[in-house]
Amino acid sequence: MMGQGMMGHGMMGESASEPDGEQAGGEKIFQDNCSSCHTVIADEGSGLGPNLHGLFGRHAGTLEGFGYSAAMQSADVVWSAKTLDIYLTDPAKFVPGNRMPFAGIKDDKQRHALIAYLAAATK
Ligand code: HEC
Repeated sequence: MMGQGMMGHGMMGESASEPDGEQAGGEKIFQDNCSSCHTVIADEGSGLGPNLHGLFGRHAGTLEGFGYSAAMQSADVVWSAKTLDIYLTDPAKFVPGNRMPFAGIKDDKQRHALIAYLAAATK
């Protein structure tokens, strides 16, 4: 497990593995898979990946100041539970040529829990 991405919000420690409720499970999935590159906190800026605050309803590749790939900028996608579901299953397939080095989450339950967490946490 990577030691980076701990941001001191008093979130669950790495030992908390049993999900209690869909969103809580999603938070852990986010911490384990996404938080090394992304934050959902508005004023934390972007890391290796763009800040995900306000993600839902945002057009792909449009966060001010982040250096997206041409592929992401020209993707005709608005982020929603539906488009995130497709993207996070297989990022390279949904937006060919995008630079996010992530293979995807194939497990439907885990992916849906993650998206439920994102819907609440990125508001
Ligand atoms: C190793 C770093 C890394 C990891 C891990 C990672 N991402 Fe990304 N992500 C990126 C980069 C880089 C981009 C921009 C890609 C581009 O411009 O082509 C991106 C783009 C995105 C976008 C598009 C955002 C926008 O503004 O259009 C979403 C949504 C996203 N990532 C969600 C996730 C989620 C959810 C996870 C965990 C399951 C995750 N990412 C894991 C690096 C990462």
